[in-house]
Amino acid sequence: MHTSNQICVQTVDDEFLRSHDVSLRVIRFDLAHPVVGGNKWYKLQHNLALARAQGATRLLSFGGAYSNHIYALAAAGADAGFATLGVIRGELVTPLNSTLAFARSRGMQLIPVSRADYRRRSEADFLLQLQQQYGPYYLIPEGGANAAGVQGCEQMAFELAQRVPDLAHCEIALACGTGTTLAGLLRGLGELCYRRELAAQPFTRGFAVLKGADFLRHDIRKWLSGEDVTHADECWALETEYHGGGYARAGQGLLDFIASFQLRHNIPLEPVYTGKLLQALYQRIGAGHYAPGSRILALHTGGLRPVW
Ligand SMILES: Cc1ncc(COP(=O)(O)O)c(C=O)c1O
Repeated sequence: MHTSNQICVQTVDDEFLRSHDVSLRVIRFDLAHPVVGGNKWYKLQHNLALARAQGATRLLSFGGAYSNHIYALAAAGADAGFATLGVIRGELVTPLNSTLAFARSRGMQLIPVSRADYRRRSEADFLLQLQQQYGPYYLIPEGGANAAGVQGCEQMAFELAQRVPDLAHCEIALACGTGTTLAGLLRGLGELCYRRELAAQPFTRGFAVLKGADFLRHDIRKWLSGEDVTHADECWALETEYHGGGYARAGQGLLDFIASFQLRHNIPLEPVYTGKLLQALYQRIGAGHYAPGSRILALHTGGLRPVW
């Protein structure tokens, strides 16, 4: 599968933004691939290549019943000729929801496990048990959060640089679940600066979509360590107050914001990641966090599916 050339940068223009003298653009990574769009596309590329290099024929990963990652893995894995196993948190409710129905239609074997077992998803003995039961597999952690996932997301920085001539003068904004995408992006931007293809590293602000996400800073720093390029902490921040009640919690305010934004700007959003991101940006702009003349570049990381 190849990255689609449909990725584009859309300018968001409205009276609110004009009144604050802030420019907002959205880069449509959701259009990177018709099925596996968004950051999932980038997280999976190196994982698939590594799995192939290791001679694996089967990919195993974890996710909830509405997981974007499971959906994307089922599609990308099948297209790349792998068998896929999806370990799903909790019981499988029939009829299957559209995420799981799609995954199964792409040949993914769905393995429901109890919430207690699901919490053991990183434990060696649990992973070994799965291997004994289902045969050898290449493991991709929940959310595609591994070193290969981070490496894949570096490409997003290169795609940005190709499409945004004033990238060095923008502030980048993106939604964060595991922080993998943010870490990859920072590494890619650092690499561009190191190669002198970018005059300065743009400030990058992640917006955590889960409650109590302060621990993510540690995970992100871990992904950044060991780099030969310097990633000073001044280059990025993680906002943890815009989760709107917690992961996948969507109040009426958020749903109204999304409906109005889509109508006005013709950019589809979903309530778990990109809707929360854009709402947070509007709130921050309204609260005066962005000086006049600021240029914000929001990443559309995908997640749009019939399930919404
Ligand atoms: C649509 C979408 N946007 C953003 C994210 C957050 O990405 P990350 O887990 O790399 O922080 C995810 C989850 O992977 C996602 O599915």
